[in-house]
Amino acid sequence: MNSSTNQVYPVIWHNNAVSLIDQTRIPNEYTFVEISRSEDMAVAIKTMIVRGAPAIGVAAAYGIYLGATEIHTDNRDEFLNHLENVAEMLRSTRPTAVNLFWAISRMMKIAYETLGTVDEIKQVLFQTAQIINAEDLQTCQAIGDNGLKVLPSNPEKLTLLTHCNAGALATAGYGTALGVVRSAWREGRLARLFADETRPRLQGAKLTAWECVQEGIPVTVITDNMAAHCMKRGLIHAVVVGADRIAANGDTANKIGTYSLALVSKAHNIPFFVAAPLSTIDFSLSDGDQIPIEERDPAEIYQVGDTILTPSGAEFYNPAFDVTPAEFITGIITEKGTFAPGELRRLQEKQVV
Ligand code: MRU
Repeated sequence: MNSSTNQVYPVIWHNNAVSLIDQTRIPNEYTFVEISRSEDMAVAIKTMIVRGAPAIGVAAAYGIYLGATEIHTDNRDEFLNHLENVAEMLRSTRPTAVNLFWAISRMMKIAYETLGTVDEIKQVLFQTAQIINAEDLQTCQAIGDNGLKVLPSNPEKLTLLTHCNAGALATAGYGTALGVVRSAWREGRLARLFADETRPRLQGAKLTAWECVQEGIPVTVITDNMAAHCMKRGLIHAVVVGADRIAANGDTANKIGTYSLALVSKAHNIPFFVAAPLSTIDFSLSDGDQIPIEERDPAEIYQVGDTILTPSGAEFYNPAFDVTPAEFITGIITEKGTFAPGELRRLQEKQVV
């Protein structure tokens, strides 16, 4: 965290290594993990030391560079073959967020396209990882500003609801959904943020609430099953969530529970926005049924700390994400403006993306 601005940067290149904020320890500890090997970066992504779609893309880009520095040959083809193995290791960490695959593809493309020596390729890979990091920060700030333009104009001070953490911690900094919240706060348009706690890993209760407290944004944490009640009571004016992968028809994968939030928003006539960079759109998938959904360790459900919550003999199902059908999404807020889900294909045709 930059102490003068309270800005949070979860992935920083520092002293020939990557410094990751250890997101498994927030809010109780604010510590960093130093990563100097590609294999350790893969473990950090898998174990969610770094998490959130754009942040794992940035982390994987540095992972590719670290992998490149571990390959000791001057032979270009041999180098690229070894680098493919590093890319495969990083791709196998988490399946849903497309930003991971997008960043790895971008790094591998530049490696193949650079016609110099192995050392020159390594140099270009480092620069590209730095660019991916810097671009994501700018993208998030643009998303925040674009979000401000589409939030309801009434009342003057809004109460927004978000799910999981799509904040600075989940990106290079500033955040996507939480970027919109930040921009609204800085412009005096936010009264309060309601944050779903987001079972089972509690990214809302731990991470979103922590980010808000750092910045002095009023935040109320609710459990995931309280959203409909809050909406019925008129407490929520709009919902803004992030995305892990958006199919070409606008169907959107995000943290488990997002779909139910979209359904209850529709039932209460409350606008439901997805905020995400254009790199989160996967045009190779025509609809959300094709998005791979990560299943995680059942212990995330049945165990809190050392305490087992459930009787032995019960079984568990722990999908980490769900898919919200496009029809429930009011608009997708991106760095290039806000689009109806049905407009995405046209954007691709016009080569906006
Ligand atoms: O499992 P996580 O914590 O990586 O899931 C994070 C989310 O679902 C976020 O909402 C999404 O990645 C968008 S982050 C800007």
